[in-house]
Amino acid sequence: MIETTGVRHRTRRLVVLVSGNGSNLQAILDACADGRIDGVVAAVVSNRRDVFALQRANAAGVPAVHIGARAGETRADYDTRLTEVVAGFDPDIVVLAGWLRILSMSFLGWFPQRVVNLHPSKPGELGGLHAIERAWDEAVEGNRTETGVMVHLVPDEGVDDGPVLATRAVPIDTSGTLEAFEATMHAAEHAVLVEVLADLCSPSPRLVADPQRPYAATSTTTEATA
Ligand code: GRF
Repeated sequence: MIETTGVRHRTRRLVVLVSGNGSNLQAILDACADGRIDGVVAAVVSNRRDVFALQRANAAGVPAVHIGARAGETRADYDTRLTEVVAGFDPDIVVLAGWLRILSMSFLGWFPQRVVNLHPSKPGELGGLHAIERAWDEAVEGNRTETGVMVHLVPDEGVDDGPVLATRAVPIDTSGTLEAFEATMHAAEHAVLVEVLADLCSPSPRLVADPQRPYAATSTTTEATA
């Protein structure tokens, strides 16, 4: 994904886009700090003001930027402003970690093969908002026994859709609580995201995006590819 041939390895620069709590951002910050990821979070950008993720960035000494949409602004214009800020931090990888806003090609076109998204479902299932709650509801109704998490490339405007880098199944224990299930899902997200970024930031990344994996509503993937 990242061209390294003939280029001396440098510590990878990550720009993390967030919209809320930022527990996945925290997992990235911690992994960069303790060396599991050979990378540095160059900046954290939020489309929402006053989110805890920006406080986490501040606490880690990382530039924290809020870019709110202006009244009447087109998606393309917002994405152009976002591009200027993100590009200014010279990222090797842009990480969508709880970023709750669709990105257009006005942004994605500037970072080909460099934008990765985290989503709490298996590929081809439960795209969009509230995927964890929807999986839980389906399990309670007897229509599902497991869900999962995935990290995928974002080549275009498809929502939670794109070549998959890693996925992991998570069983749903409906004898427990939704809160406990959410905690299990978030722990799986943190683990898979750190695994993927550790690989992508290494001098010789092993992960190759699987172009066959997305879009398949009948996907039966049950284990991590990383
Ligand atoms: C995660 O479940 C992520 O997959 C989804 O939004 C949530 C963000 O959590 N898109 P956090 O802000 O990283 O705690």
